[in-house]
Amino acid sequence: MTPPPDSGSGADARHERILILDFGSQVTQLIARRLRESGVYCEIWPFNAAPEARIRAFDPKGIILSGGPASVTEGESPRAPDYVFAAGLPVLGICYGQQTMCAQLGGQVEGSDHREFGRAFVDVTGDSLLTRDVWHKGAREQVWMSHGDRVTRLPDGFRVVATSEGAPFAAIADDARRFYGVQFHPEVVHTPHGAQLLRNFTHLVCGMRGDWTMGAFRAEMIEKIRAQVGKGRVVCGLSGGVDSSVAAVLIHEAIGDQLTCIYVDHGLMRAGESEQVVATFRDRFNIRLVHRDASDLFLGQLSGVTDPEVKRKTIGRLFIEVFEEEQNRLGGADFLAQGTLYPDVIESVSATGGPSVTIKSHHNVGGLPEGMRMQLVEPLRELFKDEVRALGRELGIPEAIVGRHPFPGPGLAIRIPGEVTREKADLLRKVDTIFLEEIRSAGLYDAIWQAFAVLLPVRTVGVMGDGRTYDQACALRAVTSTDGMTADVYPFDMAFLSRVSNRIVNEVRGINRVTYDITSKPPGTIEWE
Ligand code: XMP
Repeated sequence: MTPPPDSGSGADARHERILILDFGSQVTQLIARRLRESGVYCEIWPFNAAPEARIRAFDPKGIILSGGPASVTEGESPRAPDYVFAAGLPVLGICYGQQTMCAQLGGQVEGSDHREFGRAFVDVTGDSLLTRDVWHKGAREQVWMSHGDRVTRLPDGFRVVATSEGAPFAAIADDARRFYGVQFHPEVVHTPHGAQLLRNFTHLVCGMRGDWTMGAFRAEMIEKIRAQVGKGRVVCGLSGGVDSSVAAVLIHEAIGDQLTCIYVDHGLMRAGESEQVVATFRDRFNIRLVHRDASDLFLGQLSGVTDPEVKRKTIGRLFIEVFEEEQNRLGGADFLAQGTLYPDVIESVSATGGPSVTIKSHHNVGGLPEGMRMQLVEPLRELFKDEVRALGRELGIPEAIVGRHPFPGPGLAIRIPGEVTREKADLLRKVDTIFLEEIRSAGLYDAIWQAFAVLLPVRTVGVMGDGRTYDQACALRAVTSTDGMTADVYPFDMAFLSRVSNRIVNEVRGINRVTYDITSKPPGTIEWE
Protein backbone atom coordinates (compact mmCIF):
# COMPACT_ATOMS: atom_id res chain seq x y z
CA MET A 1 0.00 0.00 0.00
CA THR A 2 1.47 3.32 -1.00
CA PRO A 3 0.75 6.24 1.30
CA PRO A 4 -0.52 9.35 -0.45
CA PRO A 5 2.05 12.04 -1.12
CA ASP A 6 0.55 14.09 1.65
CA SER A 7 -1.67 12.30 4.11
CA GLY A 8 -2.49 15.69 5.57
CA SER A 9 -4.81 16.36 2.68
CA GLY A 10 -7.24 13.63 3.69
CA ALA A 11 -9.28 15.40 6.33
CA ASP A 12 -12.25 17.47 5.42
CA ALA A 13 -11.78 21.19 5.91
CA ARG A 14 -14.80 21.32 8.18
CA HIS A 15 -13.15 19.27 10.90
CA GLU A 16 -10.91 20.86 13.45
CA ARG A 17 -7.73 18.88 13.81
CA ILE A 18 -4.67 18.16 15.91
CA LEU A 19 -1.26 17.31 14.53
CA ILE A 20 0.71 14.61 16.35
CA LEU A 21 4.42 14.56 15.58
CA ASP A 22 5.85 11.10 16.09
CA PHE A 23 9.26 10.58 17.63
CA GLY A 24 8.98 6.80 17.40
CA SER A 25 7.21 5.79 20.60
CA GLN A 26 5.55 2.36 20.65
CA VAL A 27 2.35 4.01 21.85
CA THR A 28 2.01 7.05 19.55
CA GLN A 29 -1.07 5.55 17.90
CA LEU A 30 -2.78 5.49 21.28
CA ILE A 31 -2.56 9.30 21.46
CA ALA A 32 -4.54 9.48 18.24
CA ARG A 33 -7.04 6.92 19.45
CA ARG A 34 -7.68 8.75 22.72
CA LEU A 35 -8.18 12.03 20.84
CA ARG A 36 -10.55 10.48 18.36
CA GLU A 37 -12.53 8.90 21.18
CA SER A 38 -13.27 12.41 22.37
CA GLY A 39 -14.36 13.50 18.91
CA VAL A 40 -11.12 15.11 17.73
CA TYR A 41 -9.74 14.44 14.27
CA CYS A 42 -5.95 14.08 14.26
CA GLU A 43 -3.12 12.78 12.14
CA ILE A 44 0.27 11.31 13.00
CA TRP A 45 3.27 12.51 10.99
CA PRO A 46 6.93 11.63 11.44
CA PHE A 47 8.70 14.49 13.26
CA ASN A 48 10.97 14.95 10.24
CA ALA A 49 8.18 15.17 7.67
CA ALA A 50 6.55 18.32 8.97
CA PRO A 51 7.90 21.39 7.17
CA GLU A 52 6.24 24.69 7.98
CA ALA A 53 4.28 24.83 4.74
CA ARG A 54 2.78 21.40 5.32
CA ILE A 55 1.78 22.26 8.89
CA ARG A 56 0.23 25.55 7.75
CA ALA A 57 -1.76 23.77 5.06
CA PHE A 58 -3.00 21.24 7.58
CA ASP A 59 -4.03 24.11 9.86
CA PRO A 60 -4.10 22.29 13.21
CA LYS A 61 -5.61 23.75 16.37
CA GLY A 62 -2.71 22.34 18.38
CA ILE A 63 0.33 20.10 18.17
CA ILE A 64 1.28 17.09 20.28
CA LEU A 65 4.86 15.82 20.40
CA SER A 66 4.98 12.08 21.10
CA GLY A 67 7.41 10.03 23.15
CA GLY A 68 10.32 8.25 21.54
CA PRO A 69 13.27 5.98 22.20
CA ALA A 70 16.05 8.53 21.61
CA SER A 71 17.86 10.60 24.24
CA VAL A 72 17.76 14.39 23.96
CA THR A 73 21.25 14.41 25.45
CA GLU A 74 22.70 12.74 22.36
CA GLY A 75 23.91 15.01 19.58
CA GLU A 76 21.94 13.70 16.63
CA SER A 77 18.67 13.07 18.46
CA PRO A 78 15.42 14.20 16.81
CA ARG A 79 14.04 17.69 17.31
CA ALA A 80 10.67 19.27 16.61
CA PRO A 81 10.68 21.71 13.69
CA ASP A 82 11.23 25.24 15.07
CA TYR A 83 7.96 26.35 13.53
CA VAL A 84 6.09 24.19 16.08
CA PHE A 85 7.03 26.68 18.81
CA ALA A 86 6.69 29.74 16.61
CA ALA A 87 3.25 29.05 15.17
CA GLY A 88 1.33 30.54 18.09
CA LEU A 89 -0.41 27.19 18.58
CA PRO A 90 -0.80 25.20 21.81
CA VAL A 91 1.78 22.42 22.16
CA LEU A 92 1.73 19.36 24.41
CA GLY A 93 4.98 17.43 24.78
CA ILE A 94 4.73 13.86 26.04
CA CYS A 95 7.82 12.14 27.51
CA TYR A 96 10.50 12.58 24.82
CA GLY A 97 8.27 15.32 23.40
CA GLN A 98 8.43 17.18 26.71
CA GLN A 99 12.18 16.74 26.88
CA THR A 100 12.88 18.02 23.38
CA MET A 101 10.48 20.92 23.93
CA CYS A 102 12.38 21.91 27.08
CA ALA A 103 15.77 21.46 25.42
CA GLN A 104 14.69 23.50 22.38
CA LEU A 105 13.22 26.31 24.48
CA GLY A 106 16.28 26.80 26.70
CA GLY A 107 15.74 24.33 29.55
CA GLN A 108 17.92 21.40 30.45
CA VAL A 109 17.58 17.63 30.17
CA GLU A 110 19.89 15.11 31.80
CA GLY A 111 20.32 11.37 31.97
CA SER A 112 19.25 10.05 35.33
CA ASP A 113 20.13 7.12 37.58
CA HIS A 114 16.57 7.13 38.75
CA ARG A 115 14.85 5.52 35.79
CA GLU A 116 11.11 5.05 36.00
CA PHE A 117 9.34 2.30 34.08
CA GLY A 118 5.71 1.37 34.62
CA ARG A 119 3.36 2.54 37.31
CA ALA A 120 4.38 5.64 39.22
CA PHE A 121 2.72 8.32 41.33
CA VAL A 122 2.83 12.06 40.96
CA ASP A 123 2.02 14.75 43.51
CA VAL A 124 -0.08 17.51 42.07
CA THR A 125 1.49 20.77 43.18
CA GLY A 126 -0.25 23.35 41.01
CA ASP A 127 -3.31 24.12 38.88
CA SER A 128 -3.41 24.38 35.11
CA LEU A 129 -5.82 24.22 32.22
CA LEU A 130 -4.38 20.79 31.40
CA THR A 131 -5.39 19.32 34.73
CA ARG A 132 -8.54 21.38 35.44
CA ASP A 133 -11.35 19.38 37.08
CA VAL A 134 -9.28 16.20 36.67
CA TRP A 135 -6.37 16.54 39.07
CA HIS A 136 -6.54 18.76 42.13
CA LYS A 137 -3.71 20.43 43.95
CA GLY A 138 -2.48 18.28 46.83
CA ALA A 139 -3.66 14.98 45.30
CA ARG A 140 -1.46 11.97 44.53
CA GLU A 141 -2.25 10.50 41.12
CA GLN A 142 -1.28 7.31 39.31
CA VAL A 143 0.51 7.60 35.96
CA TRP A 144 2.54 5.39 33.64
CA MET A 145 6.16 6.36 33.14
CA SER A 146 8.81 5.05 30.82
CA HIS A 147 11.90 7.22 30.82
CA GLY A 148 15.58 7.38 31.64
CA ASP A 149 16.28 11.07 30.95
CA ARG A 150 14.44 13.85 32.71
CA VAL A 151 14.06 17.59 32.56
CA THR A 152 16.26 19.24 35.19
CA ARG A 153 15.74 22.95 34.40
CA LEU A 154 12.60 24.50 32.97
CA PRO A 155 12.71 27.00 30.14
CA ASP A 156 11.59 30.52 31.04
CA GLY A 157 7.86 30.89 31.34
CA PHE A 158 7.17 27.34 32.59
CA ARG A 159 6.08 26.26 36.05
CA VAL A 160 5.61 22.86 37.67
CA VAL A 161 2.17 21.32 37.98
CA ALA A 162 3.08 17.82 39.23
CA THR A 163 6.21 16.06 40.44
CA SER A 164 7.27 12.46 40.97
CA GLU A 165 10.24 10.91 42.67
CA GLY A 166 12.05 10.33 39.40
CA ALA A 167 10.75 13.36 37.54
CA PRO A 168 10.66 16.67 39.43
CA PHE A 169 8.93 18.16 36.39
CA ALA A 170 6.36 15.42 35.78
CA ALA A 171 3.83 17.95 34.45
CA ILE A 172 4.66 21.52 33.45
CA ALA A 173 2.78 24.48 32.05
CA ASP A 174 3.45 27.77 30.31
CA ASP A 175 -0.04 29.21 30.27
CA ALA A 176 0.86 32.36 28.35
CA ARG A 177 2.22 30.46 25.36
CA ARG A 178 -0.14 27.50 25.94
CA PHE A 179 2.78 25.06 26.06
CA TYR A 180 2.40 21.99 28.27
CA GLY A 181 4.59 18.99 28.98
CA VAL A 182 4.18 15.69 30.77
CA GLN A 183 6.90 13.18 31.52
CA PHE A 184 4.37 10.35 31.84
CA HIS A 185 2.20 8.80 29.12
CA PRO A 186 -1.40 10.06 29.35
CA GLU A 187 -2.37 7.99 26.29
CA VAL A 188 -2.09 4.56 27.96
CA VAL A 189 -4.83 3.11 30.13
CA HIS A 190 -2.40 2.71 33.04
CA THR A 191 -2.64 6.49 33.48
CA PRO A 192 -6.25 6.35 34.71
CA HIS A 193 -7.08 10.03 34.04
CA GLY A 194 -4.89 10.30 30.95
CA ALA A 195 -7.75 10.50 28.44
CA GLN A 196 -9.30 13.36 30.43
CA LEU A 197 -6.00 15.24 30.50
CA LEU A 198 -5.73 14.89 26.72
CA ARG A 199 -9.30 16.05 26.39
CA ASN A 200 -8.48 19.09 28.49
CA PHE A 201 -5.64 19.84 26.11
CA THR A 202 -7.84 19.61 23.01
CA HIS A 203 -11.06 21.07 24.39
CA LEU A 204 -9.88 23.61 26.98
CA VAL A 205 -6.40 24.60 25.84
CA CYS A 206 -7.00 24.36 22.09
CA GLY A 207 -10.69 25.25 22.38
CA MET A 208 -11.87 22.44 20.13
CA ARG A 209 -15.49 21.35 19.83
CA GLY A 210 -15.01 17.64 19.20
CA ASP A 211 -16.69 17.68 15.79
CA TRP A 212 -15.41 14.30 14.57
CA THR A 213 -18.41 11.91 14.62
CA MET A 214 -19.18 8.81 12.60
CA GLY A 215 -22.44 10.29 11.37
CA ALA A 216 -20.60 13.29 9.94
CA PHE A 217 -17.85 11.10 8.52
CA ARG A 218 -20.38 8.90 6.75
CA ALA A 219 -22.11 11.82 5.06
CA GLU A 220 -18.85 13.47 3.99
CA MET A 221 -17.28 10.26 2.75
CA ILE A 222 -20.30 9.49 0.60
CA GLU A 223 -19.87 12.88 -1.09
CA LYS A 224 -16.15 12.26 -1.55
CA ILE A 225 -16.69 8.83 -3.09
CA ARG A 226 -19.23 10.27 -5.53
CA ALA A 227 -16.84 13.05 -6.46
CA GLN A 228 -13.93 10.62 -6.96
CA VAL A 229 -15.77 7.93 -8.88
CA GLY A 230 -18.13 9.99 -11.04
CA LYS A 231 -19.80 7.59 -13.43
CA GLY A 232 -16.96 5.04 -13.14
CA ARG A 233 -17.29 1.44 -12.15
CA VAL A 234 -15.84 0.06 -8.93
CA VAL A 235 -14.95 -3.49 -7.91
CA CYS A 236 -14.39 -4.53 -4.33
CA GLY A 237 -12.96 -7.80 -3.02
CA LEU A 238 -15.11 -8.94 -0.12
CA SER A 239 -13.52 -11.23 2.44
CA GLY A 240 -16.29 -11.46 5.00
CA GLY A 241 -14.15 -9.45 7.44
CA VAL A 242 -15.04 -6.13 9.00
CA ASP A 243 -12.97 -3.78 6.85
CA SER A 244 -13.99 -4.89 3.38
CA SER A 245 -17.61 -5.23 4.52
CA VAL A 246 -17.80 -1.69 5.86
CA ALA A 247 -16.00 -0.29 2.80
CA ALA A 248 -18.44 -2.11 0.48
CA VAL A 249 -21.59 -0.95 2.24
CA LEU A 250 -20.36 2.65 2.42
CA ILE A 251 -19.39 2.73 -1.25
CA HIS A 252 -22.68 1.11 -2.20
CA GLU A 253 -24.52 3.80 -0.30
CA ALA A 254 -22.62 6.37 -2.35
CA ILE A 255 -22.82 4.90 -5.85
CA GLY A 256 -25.28 1.97 -5.79
CA ASP A 257 -24.97 -0.40 -8.74
CA GLN A 258 -21.76 1.18 -10.02
CA LEU A 259 -20.19 -1.09 -7.38
CA THR A 260 -19.75 -4.84 -7.82
CA CYS A 261 -18.29 -6.97 -5.05
CA ILE A 262 -16.33 -10.11 -5.78
CA TYR A 263 -16.23 -12.78 -3.13
CA VAL A 264 -13.62 -15.41 -3.93
CA ASP A 265 -14.55 -18.45 -1.85
CA HIS A 266 -11.42 -20.55 -1.32
CA GLY A 267 -13.29 -23.25 0.58
CA LEU A 268 -11.30 -22.55 3.73
CA MET A 269 -13.76 -20.30 5.53
CA ARG A 270 -15.48 -21.13 8.78
CA ALA A 271 -18.77 -23.02 8.74
CA GLY A 272 -21.62 -20.89 7.41
CA GLU A 273 -19.56 -17.79 6.64
CA SER A 274 -19.81 -17.88 2.87
CA GLU A 275 -23.59 -18.21 3.11
CA GLN A 276 -23.63 -15.30 5.53
CA VAL A 277 -21.65 -13.10 3.15
CA VAL A 278 -24.10 -13.77 0.34
CA ALA A 279 -27.14 -13.33 2.58
CA THR A 280 -25.87 -10.07 4.03
CA PHE A 281 -24.53 -8.30 0.98
CA ARG A 282 -26.68 -9.59 -1.84
CA ASP A 283 -29.97 -10.20 -0.07
CA ARG A 284 -29.96 -7.58 2.65
CA PHE A 285 -27.97 -4.70 1.19
CA ASN A 286 -28.84 -5.41 -2.46
CA ILE A 287 -25.23 -5.12 -3.49
CA ARG A 288 -24.20 -6.66 -6.81
CA LEU A 289 -22.16 -9.64 -5.70
CA VAL A 290 -20.21 -12.24 -7.63
CA HIS A 291 -19.81 -15.30 -5.43
CA ARG A 292 -17.19 -17.53 -7.02
CA ASP A 293 -16.84 -20.94 -5.44
CA ALA A 294 -13.22 -21.71 -6.25
CA SER A 295 -12.71 -24.36 -3.57
CA ASP A 296 -11.84 -27.12 -6.07
CA LEU A 297 -9.12 -24.98 -7.59
CA PHE A 298 -7.64 -23.91 -4.24
CA LEU A 299 -7.77 -27.35 -2.65
CA GLY A 300 -6.41 -28.95 -5.82
CA GLN A 301 -3.40 -26.63 -5.86
CA LEU A 302 -2.83 -27.09 -2.15
CA SER A 303 -2.63 -30.85 -2.57
CA GLY A 304 0.75 -32.07 -1.34
CA VAL A 305 1.72 -28.64 0.06
CA THR A 306 2.81 -28.75 3.70
CA ASP A 307 5.05 -25.69 4.12
CA PRO A 308 3.13 -22.79 5.73
CA GLU A 309 4.71 -20.10 3.56
CA VAL A 310 4.08 -22.08 0.38
CA LYS A 311 0.44 -22.45 1.46
CA ARG A 312 0.17 -18.68 1.92
CA LYS A 313 1.80 -17.92 -1.41
CA THR A 314 -0.30 -20.47 -3.28
CA ILE A 315 -3.51 -19.08 -1.84
CA GLY A 316 -2.44 -15.47 -2.46
CA ARG A 317 -1.53 -16.19 -6.09
CA LEU A 318 -4.77 -18.08 -6.82
CA PHE A 319 -6.82 -15.37 -5.16
CA ILE A 320 -5.43 -12.78 -7.54
CA GLU A 321 -5.89 -15.04 -10.57
CA VAL A 322 -9.52 -15.75 -9.73
CA PHE A 323 -10.25 -12.15 -8.83
CA GLU A 324 -8.84 -10.93 -12.14
CA GLU A 325 -10.78 -13.56 -14.05
CA GLU A 326 -14.05 -12.47 -12.44
CA GLN A 327 -13.26 -8.86 -12.98
CA ASN A 328 -12.57 -9.42 -16.67
CA ARG A 329 -15.83 -11.31 -16.90
CA LEU A 330 -17.54 -8.18 -15.63
CA GLY A 331 -15.90 -6.26 -18.44
CA GLY A 332 -13.32 -4.51 -16.23
CA ALA A 333 -13.64 -1.61 -13.85
CA ASP A 334 -12.17 1.85 -13.35
CA PHE A 335 -11.63 1.67 -9.61
CA LEU A 336 -10.62 -0.91 -7.05
CA ALA A 337 -12.04 -0.49 -3.55
CA GLN A 338 -9.92 -1.53 -0.59
CA GLY A 339 -10.53 -1.55 3.15
CA THR A 340 -7.16 0.05 3.96
CA LEU A 341 -7.11 1.45 7.51
CA TYR A 342 -5.22 4.33 9.06
CA PRO A 343 -2.62 2.14 10.85
CA ASP A 344 -1.60 0.83 7.38
CA VAL A 345 -1.11 4.38 6.15
CA ILE A 346 0.77 6.03 9.02
CA GLU A 347 4.32 6.56 7.91
CA SER A 348 6.43 4.90 10.54
CA VAL A 349 9.41 6.30 12.38
CA SER A 350 11.88 3.45 12.74
CA ALA A 351 13.69 3.43 16.04
CA THR A 352 16.47 1.21 14.76
CA GLY A 353 16.53 2.14 11.10
CA GLY A 354 16.78 -1.52 10.12
CA PRO A 355 14.17 -3.83 8.64
CA SER A 356 12.61 -6.34 11.00
CA VAL A 357 12.68 -10.08 10.49
CA THR A 358 9.79 -11.61 8.57
CA ILE A 359 8.17 -14.20 10.82
CA LYS A 360 5.26 -14.87 8.48
CA SER A 361 4.57 -13.35 5.10
CA HIS A 362 1.01 -12.56 6.25
CA HIS A 363 -0.31 -12.58 2.80
CA ASN A 364 -3.59 -10.84 3.11
CA VAL A 365 -6.01 -12.47 0.74
CA GLY A 366 -7.95 -9.23 0.53
CA GLY A 367 -4.82 -7.47 -0.77
CA LEU A 368 -4.34 -7.14 -4.48
CA PRO A 369 -1.15 -6.56 -6.42
CA GLU A 370 0.27 -3.15 -7.20
CA GLY A 371 0.25 -4.17 -10.84
CA MET A 372 -3.51 -4.00 -11.04
CA ARG A 373 -3.76 -0.71 -12.83
CA MET A 374 -6.83 0.78 -11.31
CA GLN A 375 -7.28 3.80 -9.16
CA LEU A 376 -7.94 2.98 -5.55
CA VAL A 377 -11.01 3.92 -3.56
CA GLU A 378 -10.06 3.66 0.10
CA PRO A 379 -12.78 5.26 2.19
CA LEU A 380 -11.47 3.92 5.52
CA ARG A 381 -7.92 5.14 5.29
CA GLU A 382 -8.47 7.80 7.95
CA LEU A 383 -9.98 5.38 10.46
CA PHE A 384 -8.80 3.11 13.24
CA LYS A 385 -10.32 -0.35 13.58
CA ASP A 386 -12.65 0.63 16.41
CA GLU A 387 -13.89 3.56 14.31
CA VAL A 388 -14.53 1.20 11.39
CA ARG A 389 -16.67 -0.91 13.70
CA ALA A 390 -18.56 2.18 14.85
CA LEU A 391 -19.12 3.18 11.22
CA GLY A 392 -20.30 -0.36 10.40
CA ARG A 393 -22.91 -0.12 13.15
CA GLU A 394 -23.92 3.30 11.89
CA LEU A 395 -24.45 1.72 8.44
CA GLY A 396 -26.59 -1.06 9.90
CA ILE A 397 -24.21 -3.92 9.23
CA PRO A 398 -25.11 -6.89 11.47
CA GLU A 399 -23.16 -7.25 14.71
CA ALA A 400 -22.08 -10.75 13.62
CA ILE A 401 -19.91 -9.09 10.96
CA VAL A 402 -19.02 -5.80 12.65
CA GLY A 403 -17.89 -7.43 15.89
CA ARG A 404 -16.22 -10.41 14.26
CA HIS A 405 -12.83 -11.67 15.40
CA PRO A 406 -9.97 -11.23 12.92
CA PHE A 407 -9.63 -14.17 10.54
CA PRO A 408 -6.50 -14.79 8.46
CA GLY A 409 -6.72 -14.44 4.69
CA PRO A 410 -5.47 -18.01 4.06
CA GLY A 411 -8.26 -19.23 6.34
CA LEU A 412 -8.28 -22.73 7.75
CA ALA A 413 -5.26 -23.72 5.61
CA ILE A 414 -2.92 -22.36 8.29
CA ARG A 415 -4.88 -24.13 11.03
CA ILE A 416 -4.27 -27.55 9.46
CA PRO A 417 -0.58 -28.30 9.90
CA GLY A 418 0.52 -30.63 7.09
CA GLU A 419 -1.39 -31.15 3.87
CA VAL A 420 -4.81 -29.49 3.56
CA THR A 421 -7.69 -31.59 2.24
CA ARG A 422 -11.43 -30.99 2.00
CA GLU A 423 -12.06 -33.77 4.54
CA LYS A 424 -9.70 -32.19 7.05
CA ALA A 425 -11.22 -28.76 6.52
CA ASP A 426 -14.70 -30.22 7.07
CA LEU A 427 -13.57 -31.94 10.26
CA LEU A 428 -11.93 -28.77 11.55
CA ARG A 429 -15.03 -26.69 10.80
CA LYS A 430 -17.09 -28.97 13.06
CA VAL A 431 -14.66 -28.60 15.96
CA ASP A 432 -14.35 -24.84 15.42
CA THR A 433 -18.14 -24.42 15.36
CA ILE A 434 -18.60 -26.14 18.72
CA PHE A 435 -15.82 -24.11 20.33
CA LEU A 436 -17.29 -20.82 19.09
CA GLU A 437 -20.85 -21.81 20.00
CA GLU A 438 -19.75 -22.46 23.57
CA ILE A 439 -17.76 -19.22 23.71
CA ARG A 440 -20.77 -17.27 22.52
CA SER A 441 -23.21 -18.95 24.86
CA ALA A 442 -20.87 -18.29 27.81
CA GLY A 443 -20.89 -14.59 26.80
CA LEU A 444 -17.13 -14.57 26.25
CA TYR A 445 -16.89 -13.75 22.53
CA ASP A 446 -16.24 -10.03 22.92
CA ALA A 447 -13.67 -10.55 25.69
CA ILE A 448 -11.53 -12.62 23.31
CA TRP A 449 -9.42 -11.31 20.41
CA GLN A 450 -9.39 -14.57 18.45
CA ALA A 451 -10.56 -18.11 19.20
CA PHE A 452 -10.24 -21.10 16.92
CA ALA A 453 -9.38 -24.76 16.62
CA VAL A 454 -6.33 -26.36 15.00
CA LEU A 455 -6.46 -29.85 13.51
CA LEU A 456 -3.34 -31.68 14.66
CA PRO A 457 -1.56 -34.13 12.35
CA VAL A 458 -1.44 -36.63 15.19
CA ARG A 459 -3.54 -39.70 15.96
CA THR A 460 -3.98 -40.78 19.53
CA VAL A 461 -5.51 -43.77 21.30
CA GLY A 462 -8.72 -43.32 23.20
CA VAL A 463 -11.53 -45.36 24.65
CA MET A 464 -15.20 -44.79 23.92
CA GLY A 465 -17.79 -47.11 25.40
CA ASP A 466 -16.07 -50.48 25.40
CA GLY A 467 -14.06 -49.80 22.31
CA ARG A 468 -10.61 -48.51 21.48
CA THR A 469 -10.39 -45.46 19.23
CA TYR A 470 -7.40 -44.28 17.21
CA ASP A 471 -8.37 -40.84 15.95
CA GLN A 472 -7.07 -37.33 15.46
CA ALA A 473 -6.26 -34.77 18.14
CA CYS A 474 -7.14 -31.08 17.96
CA ALA A 475 -5.97 -27.99 19.78
CA LEU A 476 -8.07 -25.05 20.89
CA ARG A 477 -6.59 -21.56 20.96
CA ALA A 478 -8.07 -18.39 22.44
CA VAL A 479 -6.13 -15.20 23.09
CA THR A 480 -6.61 -11.66 24.23
CA SER A 481 -4.75 -8.90 22.43
CA THR A 482 -5.14 -5.30 21.39
CA ASP A 483 -3.46 -5.43 18.00
CA GLY A 484 -2.35 -9.02 17.34
CA MET A 485 1.30 -8.06 17.89
CA THR A 486 1.37 -9.57 21.36
CA ALA A 487 -1.18 -11.88 22.90
CA ASP A 488 -2.10 -13.58 26.15
CA VAL A 489 -3.86 -16.87 26.57
CA TYR A 490 -7.51 -16.54 27.54
CA PRO A 491 -7.89 -18.04 31.04
CA PHE A 492 -10.99 -20.23 30.62
CA ASP A 493 -12.09 -22.08 33.70
CA MET A 494 -11.73 -25.86 33.66
CA ALA A 495 -15.49 -26.44 33.69
CA PHE A 496 -15.77 -24.53 30.41
CA LEU A 497 -12.88 -26.38 28.79
CA SER A 498 -14.24 -29.75 29.93
CA ARG A 499 -17.65 -28.93 28.48
CA VAL A 500 -16.13 -28.00 25.12
CA SER A 501 -13.90 -31.07 25.11
CA ASN A 502 -16.81 -33.40 25.89
CA ARG A 503 -18.92 -31.93 23.14
CA ILE A 504 -16.14 -32.16 20.56
CA VAL A 505 -15.22 -35.76 21.31
CA ASN A 506 -18.86 -36.85 21.49
CA GLU A 507 -20.13 -34.92 18.47
CA VAL A 508 -17.24 -34.92 16.01
CA ARG A 509 -16.46 -38.36 14.71
CA GLY A 510 -12.76 -38.62 13.98
CA ILE A 511 -11.55 -36.53 16.96
CA ASN A 512 -10.78 -38.27 20.23
CA ARG A 513 -8.54 -35.81 22.06
CA VAL A 514 -8.69 -32.08 22.79
CA THR A 515 -5.84 -29.89 24.04
CA TYR A 516 -5.73 -26.20 24.98
CA ASP A 517 -2.79 -24.15 23.74
CA ILE A 518 -1.44 -22.07 26.63
CA THR A 519 1.40 -20.30 24.81
CA SER A 520 1.49 -16.52 24.85
CA LYS A 521 2.85 -14.38 21.97
CA PRO A 522 5.79 -14.01 22.11
CA PRO A 523 7.25 -16.60 22.17
CA GLY A 524 4.41 -18.30 20.27
CA THR A 525 2.44 -16.73 17.43
CA ILE A 526 -1.33 -16.61 17.39
CA GLU A 527 -1.76 -18.97 14.45
CA TRP A 528 0.06 -22.29 14.47
CA GLU A 529 1.57 -21.78 11.04
P1 XMP B 1 0.42 -14.44 14.16
O1 XMP B 1 0.09 -15.87 13.91
O2 XMP B 1 1.53 -13.93 13.31
O3 XMP B 1 -0.87 -13.64 13.75
O4 XMP B 1 0.65 -14.17 15.62
C1 XMP B 1 -1.13 -12.27 14.04
C2 XMP B 1 -2.47 -11.91 13.42
O5 XMP B 1 -2.38 -12.02 11.99
C3 XMP B 1 -3.29 -12.99 11.51
N1 XMP B 1 -2.61 -13.71 10.42
C4 XMP B 1 -2.83 -13.49 9.12
N2 XMP B 1 -3.69 -12.65 8.50
N3 XMP B 1 -2.92 -13.43 6.41
C5 XMP B 1 -3.75 -12.65 7.14
O6 XMP B 1 -4.56 -11.94 6.55
C6 XMP B 1 -2.03 -14.29 6.97
O7 XMP B 1 -1.30 -14.99 6.27
C7 XMP B 1 -1.99 -14.32 8.40
N4 XMP B 1 -1.25 -15.04 9.29
C8 XMP B 1 -1.65 -14.63 10.53
C9 XMP B 1 -3.64 -13.85 12.70
O8 XMP B 1 -4.89 -14.50 12.54
C10 XMP B 1 -3.60 -12.86 13.82
O9 XMP B 1 -4.78 -12.08 13.85
